[in-house]
Amino acid sequence: MTNQQTGTFQQTGTSPSTSASLARRLGRTDIEPSALGLGCWAIGGPFTMFGQPDGWGEVNDEESVRAIRRALDLGVTFFDTADAYGTGHSERVLGRALGADRERVVVATKFGYTYDEERRDLTGSDTSPAYVRRACEASLRRLGTDYLDLYQLHVGDLPVSEALAVMETLEDLVAAGTIRAYGWSTDDAERAEFFASGTNCAVVQHDLNLFRPATDLLATCARHDLTSVDRTPLAMGLLTGKYGAGSQLPADDVRTVATWQPWFDGGRPSPALLAKLDGVREILRSGGRSLAQGALAWIWGSSDRTIPIPGFRTVAQVEDNAGALAHGPLTPAQVAEVNALLRGPDDASV
Ligand SMILES: NC(=O)c1ccc[n+]([C@@H]2O[C@H](COP(=O)([O-])OP(=O)(O)OC[C@H]3O[C@@H](n4cnc5c(N)ncnc54)[C@H](OP(=O)(O)O)[C@@H]3O)[C@@H](O)[C@H]2O)c1
Repeated sequence: MTNQQTGTFQQTGTSPSTSASLARRLGRTDIEPSALGLGCWAIGGPFTMFGQPDGWGEVNDEESVRAIRRALDLGVTFFDTADAYGTGHSERVLGRALGADRERVVVATKFGYTYDEERRDLTGSDTSPAYVRRACEASLRRLGTDYLDLYQLHVGDLPVSEALAVMETLEDLVAAGTIRAYGWSTDDAERAEFFASGTNCAVVQHDLNLFRPATDLLATCARHDLTSVDRTPLAMGLLTGKYGAGSQLPADDVRTVATWQPWFDGGRPSPALLAKLDGVREILRSGGRSLAQGALAWIWGSSDRTIPIPGFRTVAQVEDNAGALAHGPLTPAQVAEVNALLRGPDDASV
């Protein structure tokens, strides 16, 4: 059930304590999104980065729109996209799906990669003030809105020395009312710490799943009262349990080419991680959860600052992931048991 005015989500069928622990606010702002978001990378469809596949293959836009509408019905009010996803296509699909409901949800997008929309190719990066302003205007047009709730720097390894100018531009955009808050999508705690000093910095977006606990970034978020927006919460699909030893993803799927991620190697799920998943399967499935729901519950159980943003291509995936809200977080004992089984009792890293 969604409160139409504030966009906040009220759980049904859960205990009051579970509901309380799934309340979320973006950093120090008064923006209150649902504890679950939707990640809109895959629905951008095929695109490349310097000619290499960087999308998840073909998607059906009508199914993407239905999935976003279903998410709204199920109380999801946070949506994460980027101008890079399908070189604008994901933003267009999201804007179309939200339509008149835009005001009651929290829209997050990203900037920093340059692109050729006709060739659907990412061509490099640009974080100069003039470019950031142009990128912002283009995102607003595609999303069909006149403000962004959250604007995130997409270039995760930008040198800190270049980040100050970006931060100043973002503060100007906040002052102008074009964006409400900002953050950096980075896995590097030093960079996240630097951005955290910005008055209107509200989030760090970073990888977080039970194979990658990101304890340093969670500590940064706690130290600076920031929200942790969690990408790859399902280890790009591996944690759903649907991929096995014989699975091979197609050539146009980013999981076949991307070497920055450890979940898939050449489009095949990592045998070591599949074995680890087997070892914690029963805990994740506790309370009748699906594996995906258990993986999301582990994230919520790890920190009450987290908002996992699982990607999707179908209504069924969104229904499964949104269903995790009703189950709430794993208990502290369950989280500790998963961590001990995956990493040993004294080791927080993979
Ligand atoms: N640098 C960055 O800023 C960055 C990087 C990565 C991600 N992100 C953001 O984070 C979001 C999430 O990360 P991600 O999409 O890479 O990985 P993810 O959320 O871990 O995995 C998403 C994929 O898992 C599969 N899936 C999702 N729910 C499922 C379910 N219930 N049952 C079965 N399969 C399911 C779908 O793919 P298949 O059906 O094809 O398996 C889906 O595309 C992205 O969409 C994007 O918004 C940002």
